[in-house]
Amino acid sequence: MQYVNFGMSGVKVSQLALGLGFRGQPDEGEAQRVVEAALDSGINLIDCANVYGPMDDRANIGRSEVVLGKALKGKRDDVVITSKVASPIGHGPNDVGLSRYHIMREVERSLTRLQTDRIDVYLVHRYDDETPLEETLSTLSNLVDAGKIRYYGLCNFAAWQVTKAQGIAERAGLHPPITAQNPYSLMNRALETELFPMARDSGIGIMAYSPLAVGLLSGIYSPDDAPPQGSLWATKRDAAFGSSLDGSRGEVLGAVREIARGHGATPAQVALAWVLSHDEITIAITGGDTVDHLSDNIGGAELELEDAEIARLNAVSASLNDVLD
Ligand SMILES: NC(=O)c1ccc[n+]([C@@H]2O[C@H](COP(=O)([O-])OP(=O)(O)OC[C@H]3O[C@@H](n4cnc5c(N)ncnc54)[C@H](OP(=O)(O)O)[C@@H]3O)[C@@H](O)[C@H]2O)c1
Repeated sequence: MQYVNFGMSGVKVSQLALGLGFRGQPDEGEAQRVVEAALDSGINLIDCANVYGPMDDRANIGRSEVVLGKALKGKRDDVVITSKVASPIGHGPNDVGLSRYHIMREVERSLTRLQTDRIDVYLVHRYDDETPLEETLSTLSNLVDAGKIRYYGLCNFAAWQVTKAQGIAERAGLHPPITAQNPYSLMNRALETELFPMARDSGIGIMAYSPLAVGLLSGIYSPDDAPPQGSLWATKRDAAFGSSLDGSRGEVLGAVREIARGHGATPAQVALAWVLSHDEITIAITGGDTVDHLSDNIGGAELELEDAEIARLNAVSASLNDVLD
């Protein structure tokens, strides 16, 4: 496993992070085993959020934090964890967003569920245009000073919003954000237009989520067949599968499969290796929810693609920029 600086910070993290979105994992025991297998493999960065949980429904808010807290027993000091705030956690007017009120309340709740005294990188889950950014950033900076969080970062911000945040932090003498977390894959290259140049200019490191296009690049789906029984695109996403591998997406998958065969690798490994081949991407977050899928994906962090293969994948995916969250 390769370790890199986490965005603009000095802390070293594995290039592959394990994400605890648990899109398709209803079993908390297996979720626990996935976290333990990730740590055993050398992954030292676990991406979490206050709204993540096996089953992925609102009744399970915080379950992933609970699972992570249990898995970290005796290992906490060697692992870098994130959690997130901003997504709705209830129906009240202050159960969402990035106000000082909401952040201060939710960070305490997350710390309790995680059974820890600090979150290493606290991420705001999305931009909140109803709260002054100054209020959000000063709250996060105060949390760093208070030791409740070590660093913070920004998810799903547009490039101008990241730049605005960096400017406010600098002018106000606040701790700056260290990372931006956004979706990036061979089926969604939207970041390349604005966020990549911003990242090159400012040095902020990008964490790429949905590197397998929410599983479409995992190798288990094909444009000609119905999705395998029980898979994400046969269950929660069945209504959306219809044309999702038509046209360029199907061509991308075909190229990924061919390149994988040449390396004796799997499609998921090629798709992940392509994401990690970009200097702007510091970390790819794998969403494999079983130990088998995690083991497969770890191979992607070790696979080196040839320049000609990257050029072929770039060419075939050039027009794809739909967000598949
Ligand atoms: N900040 C944000 O707004 C945001 C949004 C989305 C995600 N994220 C983070 O990014 C992480 C990853 O996102 P994602 O779940 O969209 O990632 P992804 O890896 O693109 O997709 C995950 C899907 O791919 C399947 N899969 C993964 N590896 C596989 C393999 N080797 N073989 C077959 N199927 C495989 C998973 O199935 P199984 O469940 O069966 O393994 C799951 O259905 C999340 O856990 C979360 O931490 C952040």
